[in-house]
Amino acid sequence: MTDPEGDTPLAGAVHLDPRFTVGEVNPRLFGSFVEHLGRCVHTGVFEPGHPAADEDGLRTDVLALIRELGVTMVRYPGGNFVSGYRWEDGVGPAEHRPRRLDAAWRAVETNQFGLNEFMRFAGKAWVEPMQAVNLGTRGLQEALDLLEYTNHPGGTAWSELRRSHGVDKPHNIRLWCLGNEMDGPWQTGHKTAEEYGRLAAVTAKAMRDLDPGLELVACGSSSRAMPTFGSWEATVLEHAYDVVDFVSCHAYYEEKDGDVDSFLASAADMEEFIDGVVATADHIRAKRHSAKRINLSFDEWNVWYQSRPFNNDADAPDWSVAPRQLEDVYSVTDAVVVGSLLITLLRHCDRVTAACLAQLVNVIAPIMTEPGGPAWRQTTFYPFAEAACNGRGQVLRLDVDSPGHDTALHGRVLLLHATAVQDEDGTLTVFAVNRDTTRPLELTADLRAFGPAGPVLHTTLSDPDRHAANTLRQQDRVTPSQVTGTRVADGRLTALLPPLSWSTLRIALAP
Ligand code: AHR
Repeated sequence: MTDPEGDTPLAGAVHLDPRFTVGEVNPRLFGSFVEHLGRCVHTGVFEPGHPAADEDGLRTDVLALIRELGVTMVRYPGGNFVSGYRWEDGVGPAEHRPRRLDAAWRAVETNQFGLNEFMRFAGKAWVEPMQAVNLGTRGLQEALDLLEYTNHPGGTAWSELRRSHGVDKPHNIRLWCLGNEMDGPWQTGHKTAEEYGRLAAVTAKAMRDLDPGLELVACGSSSRAMPTFGSWEATVLEHAYDVVDFVSCHAYYEEKDGDVDSFLASAADMEEFIDGVVATADHIRAKRHSAKRINLSFDEWNVWYQSRPFNNDADAPDWSVAPRQLEDVYSVTDAVVVGSLLITLLRHCDRVTAACLAQLVNVIAPIMTEPGGPAWRQTTFYPFAEAACNGRGQVLRLDVDSPGHDTALHGRVLLLHATAVQDEDGTLTVFAVNRDTTRPLELTADLRAFGPAGPVLHTTLSDPDRHAANTLRQQDRVTPSQVTGTRVADGRLTALLPPLSWSTLRIALAP
């Protein structure tokens, strides 16, 4: 579709009905990730001596932003880091904790922040912990030791050790990852699907024997581009189907060679990823005549400029403590893509029941900090916060009418990308992205099936400069703005979505 004038709005419509639903959003869809990587932990969430630090060394300015972001769950302690981690190094008196080489990120880990500090952080950030065990350099026994330390009330060696560390009550962590990205050749202790599937199965079984209420995540593919994608999941689930609850997915996107149209269509790849893993898991289910369904934990997703060096400071020496790594500065375009990925996760909420924006602070993160200085929101903070705070209730099945265009990487995509969620309090929220970079898009919806509707609160994230970003110097350069003129008249919603934008439309419904 071409528009020689360039200023005529495109026309798009969504068709929805309260009786046609995808499913209920699991709050775990709005998880995030804290890894011992760069400055995520040290000078990110944890900075004793910072003017805003509390008695645990946690930055209260960062905690306030995390709560505002609406994060529900945090995965910890990695990531690639976990595959070489000894969890015992991070518990007990801080002065006795060893400094260790972290081979994954070529840094030194001081271990001044460990499991018990993380759990104090989780309590103050109002998030559920998602704990990963090391199945790279370690295995079944260490996973059981960690589980006994965290979840057993007392009277045994590991549980009493926890109590001697000042934590009387067990942490009672429910959700566990069985290693990290074990399909990746870069992973310390990388395994074949057969090796990992067997290890995941025996570890899961033994962990369940200790604590039957656990929910366990087996590693899926670390990207849809992995040569083993699909066959990895099938083999792992052949081994572990009966003893795990989730299979994980990881995906990162970036704009390459200025191909903004493909970048804005990244959700098409995520969609294929989800469809492929659901099909693979259900194939194993059918073969096993199993009544159980395996859900997806999309526990690493984001925009990440992986083509750039992972050290931000080119002269940074190897093996330093908390170096600046993966500190991507996000633009308006990046935020719109993050919003679009959130739309896809919501559209698949029947099978994606946990997800983590990777990561939370400083490292490819929605929140940035300066050591001894301020904390601020990146552009990507806003779509996540709006989805996490408003994307609760039933996701509605949505048909979208929209013009489309061809992209180099993802084929033909619609210019309007949207989902809708109906909250218990009667609010209907539409999240929508206009992928067209130059033209606004007029969105309409027939809402008569919902009864009396309106008024509408429409906020949008867009900017004449799609590269605009928030930085230490200009922390509020990009913020969402309210759109006037959006209305429901005679049961029909009309809204104008700016070019290259993410919008949230909150429509009040009659009780
Ligand atoms: O989130 C950054 C890294 O990306 C993680 O450590 C790893 O699991 C993934 O490859």
